[in-house]
Amino acid sequence: MIEVFFHKVYGTTPDVVVRAPGRVNLIGEHTDYNDGFVLPAAIDRSIDFAGRLRADRVVQVHSLDFGGSVEFNLDDIQKDRKNTWSNYVRGVTKYLTEDGYRLSGADMVFGGDVPREAGLSSSAAVEVGTAAFWKALLHLALDPVYLVKLARKAENQFVGVPCGIMDQFISALGREHHALFLDCRDLSYRPVPLRDDVKIVVCNSGVKRALAQSEYEVRLKQCREAVAQIASTGRTVKSLRDVVPADLESARPVLSDLLYRRARHVVSENQRVLEAVKVLGAGGLERFGELMNASHESLRDDYEVSSKELDVLVEVARKQPGVLGARMTGAGFGGCTVNLVRQEAAEDFAEAIYRGYHDALGLKAETYICKASHGALSI
Ligand code: GLA
Repeated sequence: MIEVFFHKVYGTTPDVVVRAPGRVNLIGEHTDYNDGFVLPAAIDRSIDFAGRLRADRVVQVHSLDFGGSVEFNLDDIQKDRKNTWSNYVRGVTKYLTEDGYRLSGADMVFGGDVPREAGLSSSAAVEVGTAAFWKALLHLALDPVYLVKLARKAENQFVGVPCGIMDQFISALGREHHALFLDCRDLSYRPVPLRDDVKIVVCNSGVKRALAQSEYEVRLKQCREAVAQIASTGRTVKSLRDVVPADLESARPVLSDLLYRRARHVVSENQRVLEAVKVLGAGGLERFGELMNASHESLRDDYEVSSKELDVLVEVARKQPGVLGARMTGAGFGGCTVNLVRQEAAEDFAEAIYRGYHDALGLKAETYICKASHGALSI
């Protein structure tokens, strides 16, 4: 499809086509920037890129979803205050050139079906897709993890959003039929097989994540403060990853109730991920679902990043037959929930969610029954 659009815009065929998937996180929320553990899967919704080399230093980018084009020169890449959608492409391209890669001009088209601002990482998909695009177009021998870090740098420093590494990592290195267990400290990772008798059902609340960025920054700071206060009791703690539940309890007297609860979410979530990976490997789906449920409660009550809409989606979900677990996914304050549902119940589940959510709040939810997919840079 993307080839067809490329032809429409530029009147010729592309040299390369790449695709970068969105993601859903099964468990391990707000742990990545605390050096912790996550278990996301790449989904079968992607941002696709098509492009062709040019003989000059100009990069022309057309966004199908925004219906606009921008042009920039490889020797002077600046942030675009108007066409902000282009900054993900600009940032990745800029950092590649700064690292000494000699890029050539290109004509590019991109677009896809990862919903925007829904917490399914459409921006990470654009960044990772841009990295994969240059790699393919210029036959660059680039290490995928290097590109993941570069994509995150584009988001943190060029776009200015202080995210962790999970979204870029899974969009690049996801594996079909698998979730990816990632240690965000040393970036070691392992695909964990997902059984095909259960489905990952994503429910989009339709509420844009209004508070997400500012509250995300607040949580980041609170985690750092909690680390400093726990370290002041004499423990060697670099991040909340280093704190086990017993340490947290003994440091409780030095923490305010708020910081204690923030830390308790991260510490307990890391434990849940480790257990979730173990039980999933052994086929323990019921327990996996319970851990997802506990993750939601912790995000709602201790970390306070859920919303009324997400809580309603989760409540409705848990009443349906065949549901193993339901929780909010991503940064929170809107966006999506992720549900693990027995395959035979998945279609009815999707309908029931639509009705239940509409009855409760008068809002329309979208549901996607997802397949775990390959990342843009997976081998
Ligand atoms: C956003 C960020 C990720 C991660 C999640 C919360 O998706 O981009 O790095 O922190 O929120 O788990």
